[in-house]
Amino acid sequence: MCGIVGIIAKREVSPLLVEGLKRLEYRGYDSAGIATLANGHIKRRRAQGKIGNLEAKLAERPIAGTIGIAHTRWATHGVPNEVNAHPHATERVAIVHNGIIENFQEIKNELVAEGHKFESQTDSEIVAHLVTHYLDQQMKPREAVAATLKRLQGAFALALLFAGEHDLLIGARRGPPLAVGYGDGEMYLGSDALALAMLTRKICYLEDGDYAVVHGNSVEIYNADDKPVTRKVVETAASGALIGKGEFRHFMLKEIYEQPGVIGDTLSTYLNPATLAINLPALPFDLAKVPRFTITACGTAFYAGFVAKYWLEQIARVPVELDVASELRYRNAPMPEGGVMVVVSQSGETADTLAALRYAKQHGQKVIAVVNVPESSIAREADVVLPTRAGPEIGVASTKAFTTQLTVLAALALATARARGAIDKVREAQLSHAIAEVPARAAEVLAHDKQLKLIAHVISQARDVLYLGRGPAYPIALEGALKLKEISYIHAEGYAAGEMKHGPIALIDEQVPIIVICPHDELFDKTASNTQETVARGGKVIFLSDKPGIDKLGDIALTSVELPTVDPFVAPILYAIPVQLLAYHTAVIKGTDVDKPRNLAKSVTVE
Ligand code: G6P
Repeated sequence: MCGIVGIIAKREVSPLLVEGLKRLEYRGYDSAGIATLANGHIKRRRAQGKIGNLEAKLAERPIAGTIGIAHTRWATHGVPNEVNAHPHATERVAIVHNGIIENFQEIKNELVAEGHKFESQTDSEIVAHLVTHYLDQQMKPREAVAATLKRLQGAFALALLFAGEHDLLIGARRGPPLAVGYGDGEMYLGSDALALAMLTRKICYLEDGDYAVVHGNSVEIYNADDKPVTRKVVETAASGALIGKGEFRHFMLKEIYEQPGVIGDTLSTYLNPATLAINLPALPFDLAKVPRFTITACGTAFYAGFVAKYWLEQIARVPVELDVASELRYRNAPMPEGGVMVVVSQSGETADTLAALRYAKQHGQKVIAVVNVPESSIAREADVVLPTRAGPEIGVASTKAFTTQLTVLAALALATARARGAIDKVREAQLSHAIAEVPARAAEVLAHDKQLKLIAHVISQARDVLYLGRGPAYPIALEGALKLKEISYIHAEGYAAGEMKHGPIALIDEQVPIIVICPHDELFDKTASNTQETVARGGKVIFLSDKPGIDKLGDIALTSVELPTVDPFVAPILYAIPVQLLAYHTAVIKGTDVDKPRNLAKSVTVE
């Protein structure tokens, strides 16, 4: 992860660099820093923690310059302090880096033997020293960078600034994305279009292995073989405005409340409001003939894929393989002929998900990407993009991206079921109708916010919390536990309700809240029995169900939340919302940094 910005301008760049960093803070916020050239000399300011700390430092001790680079860090090698903050520099060059240089130790040993002095514990600092080593051998900056890139192993995006070179930045990528932005007599580098959105919408994405030699008026791009290449320049849709929180205290709460609207926006791409027919874009394969889907993703997106496994198997009667991308990419899994991979990703940049996509393509799979960022690497490399229309998601804990992913995956399951003749017209109409109703039902779920806030007081006292669910409610239990862990730092586990007696039941006592995700579906009675088992051992049950469910079981719970009665098909989308709100309110009670929880980042571009 980490975010990178580079600017060659006709004006002072340090405020522009900081603005760019603010848009990239979702990539990490362990430290931030900038470097500029003042009278040909490299000047740096760096600060531990969020970008606000760097701003405060710059306000006290500004640095001048019309060219510079900047970085916001998510620490991989070296603790998040000021010394390890980027840019790293020698007298001759400053660099910012996103990714991991796997052979850094070997290169560092060589350079130390030559007399280079290192100040940080990072892998990144060797890039500054290796480039300096080549510059010292009288190489020109481009040659020195090209020689350096040939030595580096691993995945990285880099931006480099050279002492004495007021009209030169070099950017390079292998793995993580890097974009070149075109201004009016100014040029930019950025980890994504969002970073440059306040400067330009004219963007060129470097391809894997490329490096770009950037001047104020031009750019030359070279591929990994040092051959000049031309890359497409596109107009991006990224809005220049920094997105605000509006009336909400946190982005996360705002994004939770946006769900009825953005689920509706997403549906408008797939659902004909007059006929309620689901339509997918043209596919380069026949859904009726797919022998197996492989679904992969990371984090919350993985749980959306997990729900889709149930849907595709139950409704479309097609076998589904499911794995987290960090496992799938390395387990050398055989892929069936004619198979289709579905990758799910909000950012479209998650390193493991992208690697799993590439693995699938190499093994003859067609790839469908369910993504929120249309210009992302995953969107560009997939065969088909099924966009979510969640809009920018700023809170690190994913909420509206999740429910819009579920919405798209429900549409995919329905289209697959129809193509395979797995459902009749009547059932298809029922399911489409149920999907069409989700925005309205989601708004009803939000009306329970006050009650959920009260329940959060119970959860905030707990050391451990269990989430239970069966069938498609099981991934929602996993997602509920993940949300609580990531923002409130309370230990939580999601469990398949039937598995509870194989271990976690030992945890249960009067102190452990158990959140049961239990729509009144065909498995209701099974989950009800498991709920009874927890109550019998003193567990405090928070029961998320509907009217028929609560009529049957509500009185054994500490408290019940009555969600709308809907077709069980769409229940996972709606039951995601109360678990988000429970985690949110618990985190607020605990006083954590809800939108930027410790150690996490929104976009994970390292493996
Ligand atoms: C990080 C984020 C999660 C997200 C996951 C996958 O861990 O903090 O919210 O679910 O990455 O990200 P993606 O962008 O691929 O959905």
